[in-house]
Amino acid sequence: MTTNMRGIEVLQDPRRNKSTAFTEAEKQSLGLVGLLPDVTETEDLQLQRVNSQLAQKPTDLERYIYLMNLLDHNETLFYRTLMSDPARFLPIVYDPTIGEACLKFGHIYRQARGMYLSMTRSGKVKDVLKNWPQKDVRFICVTDAGRILGLGDLGANGMGIPIGKLQLYTACAGVPPQFLLPMYLDAGTNNEQYLHDPLYLGMRKARPSTEELYSFVDEFVEAVQEVFPKCCIHFEDWTGVDAVHLLQRYRDKYCVYNDDVQGTAGIVLAGMINAAKIKGTKLRDEKYLFLGAGSAGIGLANLLCTAMVQEGLTVKQAQSRVYMFDINGLLEDTRKDLVDFQQPYAHKHAPTRDFVAAIESIKPTTIIGVSTVGGTFTQKVIEAMSRINERPVVLALSNPTEHAECTPEQTYTWSKGKAIYAAGVQFPPVRFNGQTFLPGQANNFYIFPAVGMAIFATQASRVTDEMFIEAARAVADQVPSDLLKQGLLYPLQSNILETEIQTAARVAKLVFDLGLARVPRPADMVAFIREHVYKPEYNVEAASRTTVA
Ligand code: NAI
Repeated sequence: MTTNMRGIEVLQDPRRNKSTAFTEAEKQSLGLVGLLPDVTETEDLQLQRVNSQLAQKPTDLERYIYLMNLLDHNETLFYRTLMSDPARFLPIVYDPTIGEACLKFGHIYRQARGMYLSMTRSGKVKDVLKNWPQKDVRFICVTDAGRILGLGDLGANGMGIPIGKLQLYTACAGVPPQFLLPMYLDAGTNNEQYLHDPLYLGMRKARPSTEELYSFVDEFVEAVQEVFPKCCIHFEDWTGVDAVHLLQRYRDKYCVYNDDVQGTAGIVLAGMINAAKIKGTKLRDEKYLFLGAGSAGIGLANLLCTAMVQEGLTVKQAQSRVYMFDINGLLEDTRKDLVDFQQPYAHKHAPTRDFVAAIESIKPTTIIGVSTVGGTFTQKVIEAMSRINERPVVLALSNPTEHAECTPEQTYTWSKGKAIYAAGVQFPPVRFNGQTFLPGQANNFYIFPAVGMAIFATQASRVTDEMFIEAARAVADQVPSDLLKQGLLYPLQSNILETEIQTAARVAKLVFDLGLARVPRPADMVAFIREHVYKPEYNVEAASRTTVA
């Protein structure tokens, strides 16, 4: 059923509000005469005003608050702003500013966005979900905030993450925002600071047992199938063990994925594929040593092995090329402290807690830092890698910046310009020995929005690892050869939307090939994706009409 909105109601609805862009005819027909200045501005002029107001803000956190406020009033202008210069705005609405925004979430809170599903609603989850006004939800990004970025348990303050993550689906890949639902699953928090903060917005209770938590997540996942049958559930920022276990629990039964495990792995894999291209090898020819065996490390190791199997190795052969080292030393077959999903990488090897000794014994071609600890790829580590390899590959992925295992400057200097390097954060270009090196950023936003767009357009019924590998290959293929020569492993951020459309088209093709699509196969996959892309433009009809259940 559609109803006609008029007057102030239109201005108060961020999806329909055009602010100063309503034409005289629209003002007449919608009862807006006198409620707005008489001018009719173009969208470009509105964007100019946004930019000028943003320039007055002293910090990125203030810019974040301003942009969220803009979203509360005018969704189209918000996305027009983000999509006008993603490289500038994504670090404001997402990483790194989002970390600070989450830490202060209860204090900077203005208006509810998304849904808060507390464990006190156990047995009534379906009813709660039905309160969401949109009936066709295609993505729920859900966190229990067990591990927000590198910041740990943030409880309800973690709500900033699903909000920001879903904005990237739209800003990077054009998934229409009305289909996206951010969700905080409130299982309490063990964060003492927040438990004692009067402005904290979550349940003031310690976290439950794993059994209680998983049983509530079961109710949530099952309720989603019924209330939003076309919905994909994106798990985000759960603790490492929960991330892996919940993914295992649902992946073959429902349309779910975990970006920390699969999306992160996809983007790192794209870098590995391009590093191999620079060296003239294949993934299966390389030997990998991880520093860190948590959710990111294990997710990446698993996806990497699947990709090596696609290149002709058996699972055992692929796993034999992957070694891992964690806080207690090398994962090897005498270790008694390993969890089930780490076992495949615990090879026969003498115990050691010395990373350089492990490099000298294992002779990896690639080291991957996912340890959360800055500076752990020391000069000795890089020099050892450079002694063993003509072109050592060094991926220092921990973030934020001060947590990077090593900087590009250190890596190019200590390896005398031989290393191929990428980080988890953006570093500026480095001049070394008269040469300019371009350190790439393994940023998930090249992968999950594109995979999300492919799922959205095809109405995929499952999300598989192969889809993330295909996304990785598509991203890797979009780095021009001249930039590859300068060591850049990832596409430039200046044209993200086009990069993601091409990636989404490749993933969509795979979804059809795997028989997982729930719509007819189109003839032209890129055109098919383009048809689904949201454009941040005012729609006169949408300004006045709304659909209610
Ligand atoms: P986690 O907490 O699940 O795992 C951390 C792992 O590092 C554990 O295995 C731990 O034993 C090990 N570790 C800690 N201190 C260590 C030390 N001094 N030496 C050796 N190992 C040590 O964390 P998770 O989720 O796996 O993330 C790891 C880091 O990687 C985070 O900083 C994350 O932001 C970053 N990351 C960034 C990516 C990107 O930018 N695209 C991609 C993947 C990870």
